[in-house]
This record gives sequence, C-alpha cells and structure tokens, in this order.
Amino acid sequence: MKLFTKVLTIVILFVSLQTTGQTTDAVKMKTFIDALMKKMTLDEKLGQLNLPGSGDIVTGHAANSDLGKKIREGKVGGLFNIKSVAKIKAVQKVAVEESRLKIPMMFGMDVIHGYQTTFPIPLGMSCIWDMDLVEKAARIAATEASADGICWTFSPMVDISRDPRWGRISEGNGEDTYLGSTIAAAMVKGYQGNDLSKNNTIMACVKHFALYGAAEAGRDYNTTDMSRVRMYNEYLPPYKAAVDAGAGSVMASFNEVDGIPATASKFLMTDVLRNQWGFKGFVVTDYTGINEMMDHGMGDLQKVASLALNAGIDMDMVGEGFLTTLKKSLSEKKVTQQQIDIACRLILEAKYKLGLFDDPYKYCNEQRAATEIFTPANRKAAKEIAEESFVLLKNKNGLLPIRKSGTIALIGPLADAKENMSGTWSVATDMSTPISVLQGLKNAVGGNAKILYAKGSNLDADSMFEQRATVFGKTLHRDSRSNEVILKEALDIANQADVIVAAVGESAEMSGESASRSEIGIPKIQQDLLAALLKTGKPVVLVLFTGRPLTLQWENEQVPAILNVWFSGTEAGDAIADVLFGNVNPSGKLSTTFPQNVGQIPLYYNHKNTGRPLPEGKWFQKFRSNYLDVSNDPLFPFGYGLSYTTFTYSDIALSSNFLKGNQTITATVTITNAGNVAGKEVVQLYTRQLVGSITRPVKELKGFQKIALRAGESKKVTFTISNKDLKFYNSDLKYVAEPGNYKLFIGGNSRDVKEADFKLEL
Ligand code: BGC
Repeated sequence: MKLFTKVLTIVILFVSLQTTGQTTDAVKMKTFIDALMKKMTLDEKLGQLNLPGSGDIVTGHAANSDLGKKIREGKVGGLFNIKSVAKIKAVQKVAVEESRLKIPMMFGMDVIHGYQTTFPIPLGMSCIWDMDLVEKAARIAATEASADGICWTFSPMVDISRDPRWGRISEGNGEDTYLGSTIAAAMVKGYQGNDLSKNNTIMACVKHFALYGAAEAGRDYNTTDMSRVRMYNEYLPPYKAAVDAGAGSVMASFNEVDGIPATASKFLMTDVLRNQWGFKGFVVTDYTGINEMMDHGMGDLQKVASLALNAGIDMDMVGEGFLTTLKKSLSEKKVTQQQIDIACRLILEAKYKLGLFDDPYKYCNEQRAATEIFTPANRKAAKEIAEESFVLLKNKNGLLPIRKSGTIALIGPLADAKENMSGTWSVATDMSTPISVLQGLKNAVGGNAKILYAKGSNLDADSMFEQRATVFGKTLHRDSRSNEVILKEALDIANQADVIVAAVGESAEMSGESASRSEIGIPKIQQDLLAALLKTGKPVVLVLFTGRPLTLQWENEQVPAILNVWFSGTEAGDAIADVLFGNVNPSGKLSTTFPQNVGQIPLYYNHKNTGRPLPEGKWFQKFRSNYLDVSNDPLFPFGYGLSYTTFTYSDIALSSNFLKGNQTITATVTITNAGNVAGKEVVQLYTRQLVGSITRPVKELKGFQKIALRAGESKKVTFTISNKDLKFYNSDLKYVAEPGNYKLFIGGNSRDVKEADFKLEL
C-alpha cells in the first residue's frame, strides 16, 4: 500500500511537471531546434555564430549589399546598431525569404540608458537608489527599442570600477558590489519583463564579463589582475545578480584575467558562468574580441578563435574569426562538433525565446515605431528620473534653490550644448532633441526673470583635445574667438546679474569608451572662467557636467554651491531648471567616491583596515598607512549627497544584540526632516565584521531605503538582518558567514553614521 502511494505521487508529480507551461515550452523548443539543426550544414551552423557589424546596409538595397549576400548564404546570425524598422525589415526579409533555411536574424543595439528618450548615464542612474525608477527606465528603453526593430540590448554594463580615470566608469553603477548587484537585477527585469516573447521586451546582455572596470591605471582595455577572493567578493557579484535575474546573454570583456584574455578564459566562461552560476543563455564576444587576442599574443586567428570556442564563447562580434577558421579547426580536431552545436543551439534558443521563429517581423511594426517612441509620457518619466540622479555636493548658506526673478547669468561651455546632454553611449537618440540648460531655464522662468547667456570659454584651451572629446556629433560648437574676448563677453553679462549659473565640466565624450584621463579636474580654462566669475562678487552656482568623479578641491573651497547633474538625457535642461529653482529637491547620493586628488586613486569606502591604520582624527602619523601630502579622506564619500532640507538620525535600536543561527534581528532608526521643505533621503545600512578568517572591509553596504519626508515629518526605517547578509567568500572560496562580533552602521552616507554592535552565533 505504502509503495503504491509513493508510485502514485511520483506519477502525479511527473504529469503535473509535464503540464506546467515552462516544461512544455522547454520541450517544444528542444523539439523545434533539434529538427532545425538536423537540417543545418556545418557552414550554416557557423553562420549563426557570426555577428558582423552593420557595414554596408542601407535601406532599399539590403539585398544587393555584401552583407546581403552573406545573409542569403546563411552566414549571419544577427546584426547590431542598425536603426529603423525599414532597414531592419529589409534585412530580415533577405534572411527569412532568401536564405536556404529561412532562419530569422536577431538585431542588437547598445541601448545603454534609453533609446530615443534618454535617461541619465548609468553612473548618474546609480545615484538614484530607487530600483523602481531604474527598472522603469529600462522598461521604457525596451519599449522604444522594440518598437523600432531591436530585440537585444548590450546592457546592463555592471563592471565595478574604483578608478575614475577610466572613461567607462560613466557606463557602470559605481564602486559598490551590493548597489551594483541590485541595479543589475532591476535593469534585467526592466528590459526582459516576465516574458521575453512579448513584442515590447528585449533580451539583456550583461557585460563586460569580467573585471573590465579594474583596468590598470584606469587606461581602457588595459590588463587586470586580482586575487580570487577579491574577484568573488567584490567584482563578480553584479554579473551574477544579472544572471540570476535571468539575463539571456553575456558579453565577454576585452581585458585579460590571470594572464588569459577573458574571451579565451574557460575559467570565466565555463567554470564560473555555466558551472557555478548555471547560466543557460549565450555568450557573445565584445567588438573584435577574438581577433584582438592576436595582439594579446595568443596566436593567429585560427588559434584564437578555437581558444574562444573552447572557453565557452558562442557568438563572435564583428571579427568573423569563427566564420572563417572553425571549419579548419574542426577538421584538425582543435575544436569539436559538439562545441559548435552547443553554441549554435544557444543562439537559436535565444531567437526562439524572443519569438522570432513565430514572427520574424514582430519588432518591426511601423505603427508602434510612430507612436511609442519619444512620447510625452516617456519624456515626463525621463525628466523625473533625471531629477532624482542629481547630487548636491555643496550648498553654502542655502544659496540653492535660486529665485525665478531678477537677472540670471547662465555661463559656460555646457550651458547651450544640447548635443551633449544625453552623454556617452546614446546611439539611438536624435541629437537635436535634448533640452539644453539655456532652454530649460527659459522654459522655467517664462516672463518672471531675465536669462542672459554667454559661453565664457571653450571646453578646453587645446582645440585638439576638444576635438578628441566631442566625437560622434557631440559638438560644443567651438568658438574661434580669442579666450579673452569670450571671457569678456561673459563677465559683461555676469556683472549685470543677481546670480550666476556656471554650466561647466566635461563634455559627453570626455568619458565613455576609450576616454580615459590622467588628470580628472575641470579643464583649466573653465576653472579660470569660474575664478573670474567668482571675482565679480556675485553668487555663483556651479552646475557640474561629468561622466566620472572629478577632483574638485579648489571648486569645493571657492564656489558656494555645486550641483552635479552628470549627463542626464534628453530632458536634462528642464530637469536641471526644476532643481535649481526648487520645484524639486535634489536627493541623489554618490555611488562612487570623489577623491581629493588623482594620487589617492583607487579610493573607495569599503577598503581594508591595514595593520597600520591611521588613528581617528589624524590625517598623518609617521609609520601609519597614509600620505605625506594629502589626508586619506575623500572629498565626497560614497553615499553622499545633500538636500535643500536636513535630516537627523536617531540612535539605532536593535531588536537584539545576538543574531542566532537562521534567525533575524532588526535595526531601526527614526529619521526626521528638520528643515522647511519636503525631501527624500537614502537611508543606508552598513556592517563590519570585526574578526574574520580573512581580513574584512571596514564597512560594507548591506541595504538601503529611499524615503520621502514632509517638512518636520519623522519616519521609522527598519532593516532586517540575517546571517545571509553577512556571507562572503573565504580563502577557500566558500560562501560563509562567520560567528563573532559585528558593527552595524546606519546613516545618510558611508561616513556620517550611527553605530551599534551585535554578535552572530551560529
Ligand atoms: C563596447 C561594447 C559594445 C560594443 C558594441 C564595444 O566597443 O565595448 O560595450 O556593446 O562595442 O557596440
């Protein structure tokens, strides 16, 4: 009888499993792809692994182009950065009507922070600390991109970076593992939704796997090298979070790891990604990532292409190393048929999951393209999101917000620079659409105040530098007059004004790919402009444009108010005006430390204590870990950002000082808005393990909550802590929580915190 019940239960379980949607879908997909792959020749399989650049595709003669020929021959799996329904439809038509097996192609794009409606650059987005908004921005980006033919985005970029010299720090979420992981998951959710087969969701591609943000000296594409303990604890978790959230694809990074280019790293692509994390999607190289391994010194094209396939790479972006050499490598037994089949299957599966076999034109709907892109609703959301990303770095004597009256002098090379508002990696946007600061201020004041404008200076005195920093149509309309004449014009209007708004900093392309800097200040000529403006004796508000943390020691000493607006997208000007005039109270908090000078880099809040820490309150002591010429302190710490109001924190109330086994404890603080206006505060929770089997950081972010408080209002904020929050990879790379004493900190940034103590007992 007992045995009968057991058998019956197993049968029922089996039947119900078979009938769940997921299992049926998986079986259906397998059957479909098995049948298709049986028909495919080796060349057609290799064709699926090929992702060439969009090359010579022009609407109207896709079929006659070289690429058209390749597509017809079944040698192309997908294309990227090709824009418009018309073009994509024309190319897809060749694939599904003229190639032997009619396999649809997938179309990717770098939809990094929005499509036509752009949002803040990712570094700015990461200062919002509100995952609903992060997800919403990705959702809107997916809706717009999918309405225009795109089904795959090369985002999220989740490379942790602690080196602001690296230009691509602008494309990531800053220095922190926990914040970065949380954002990675939210973005994947925003792009992919719950159902990838819908026509308004797109497949995410988490990049750049791995450790790209740790390039030596902040120089792009440079070598990285780090211990496994650091890798597992600090750099890998955001990629894993994106994979856990269901990201359909992963992009390999350009850099080497442990002496092996990531593109050839079996450790990364197979051991970690597939075996340890259970990733089921496909892996694409970065742009010519395979070919570049020849320059890394790994062999000729045939050799490096075989290394990549052996490592676990499925798709070759641009370089055609797979397409042109794998057949030979197979005949020479350097790769196996099974490896090629697996890669081909994973790419076909992605297309299947996107629904392209059911309808290859499902993302090519002219009606949607005409009505769902750059809509008033999307732009409204983009403005609100932009406003939340601004970080108020300084506000002496409450200079901000300014009044909408009198005369306002708007001065600076970024003041009337709409082409630069979207920032780096905004390939789909129309550069004529963003709102400049000048336009935004005019829109906001109407007839209530007079806005005077002058450029004041070029971006940089060196025109060659400016040329390198204003590529891809992001011109700053360099003024050919002499520096003196440009400055004099600005001072003339400054002298007529009640308040000066100086829009200065970096151009959009001073950060981003291949835009590393060895000095990270505001260019000298703009500092000279600021100095001259300050000399007028008028109040000066610095509206700072930047794609990275800058060294702002002089500015912080001299300028009374500094509002960091990053590059915040198409609606930048209106958003900036809203915050300058106080319609919106700034609430962004830094996701990356601002150092005092370049010599302190890398500088990050969750560092180790060392054996010779500096005693508290001192900035130098002989034979301690410090510098002779600068303190160890940052200029602005991680998590920092001011508001037009002030928040006070009560002491921390712990539900218990003992965290036992799998139980939880809570930590509660009361936050009060002690000022006169409503505002939002990001309440941050950090912990420190005091004694560990390996040395542990002095603080680690473990949670945060963004709350809104009316003037005078108080709210209780409670965090729940379990031993899961205290886990880390020990020196055997085991993920463990260790018993012992811990500190817990809560505050409005990583420096100014309340403290409590508890003990973990396992
Ligand atoms: C970048 C990637 C990007 C790719 C495709 C590369 O140069 O490193 O982040 O997705 O180009 O445009």
